[in-house]
Amino acid sequence: MSPRGRVLCVGLVCLDIISVVDSYPEEDTDTRCVSQRWQRGGNASNTCTVLSQLGVPCAFMGTLAAGRVADFITDDFSRCGVDASLVVRHAAGVTPCACCTLSLASGSRTVLLWDLDLPEILADDFSKVDLGPFRWIHWEGRNGDEQLRMIARVNEMNRRRDPGEAITVSVEIEKPEKLDTHQLIGHGDVVFISKDFAKHAGYNSAEAAVRGLYGRVKRGGVLVCAWGEQGAAATGPSGEVACSPAFPPPTLVDTLGAGDTFIAGVIAALSRGQSLQEALTFGCRVAGKKCGVQGYEGLG
Ligand code: ADP
Ligand code: FRU
Repeated sequence: MSPRGRVLCVGLVCLDIISVVDSYPEEDTDTRCVSQRWQRGGNASNTCTVLSQLGVPCAFMGTLAAGRVADFITDDFSRCGVDASLVVRHAAGVTPCACCTLSLASGSRTVLLWDLDLPEILADDFSKVDLGPFRWIHWEGRNGDEQLRMIARVNEMNRRRDPGEAITVSVEIEKPEKLDTHQLIGHGDVVFISKDFAKHAGYNSAEAAVRGLYGRVKRGGVLVCAWGEQGAAATGPSGEVACSPAFPPPTLVDTLGAGDTFIAGVIAALSRGQSLQEALTFGCRVAGKKCGVQGYEGLG
């Protein structure tokens, strides 16, 4: 993997309307929350926020509609030093929005997402991107068939580059119900799978999941699985399994985006040439730190 260069993350950006509550409310009650805020969200977008804080130059590619929500999001990318010039704006449609409830009592985050009124990035959009500046491209699994076509373009380009200059491809498979994203497991140099995906495949720990599913990863690839407060595990071509515990903060404040933060930490470390074990531990450390603060400030 190349030791430096720009990272491009392709996936969702949305508005998160976050309500912090002392404890999770009963259904059909009307209560006051502790605080409320707007925050730029979406897995790939959050991963960019953290990459930028970790000193990794990065760009985001996703779609936005017109209007004030999209302007808020664009301003926030710029505030966070994330290059959003590859965002595709659609005149029609609605920018995705999630209502997120963070419970201080349990540390849980409950998300209600609406993201069905805006087209995803298509292979055709991606075909227009100058890949020259990028050393690493990460896809949040969403429209899997189109994303496979985008990855095929990168593979094609890699065949024409010196091996040392090849673009590293990583993918995240998070939601078991998104069946078309499952095929991405065979197409990343680094593949991130979620606890939900692993459980759905019949595994009860991160270590068991990476051992059991590694055969589906492409030759030479790395498989990484995060498991909430139990940390994470990963394996690669050597067959050795690396494990890291979680690093709980003094007070659990906000777990929204912990997984996206973990991915940023792992990508940052691997792209700097660190070992899989070092990258896994670093990812868990940054994600743990994130759980101790509201949002993503101060992680660098
Ligand atoms: P997601 O946010 O996608 O649900 P996970 O819950 O699997 O992701 O968490 C990703 C990483 O974040 C974990 O591997 C762990 O390092 C860290 N993490 C998550 N929850 C906690 C927690 N309660 N305390 C400390 N670290 C946590
Ligand atoms: C966190 C997150 C939020 C967003 C939701 C979408 O991982 O990206 O920012 O609301 O997940 O599923």
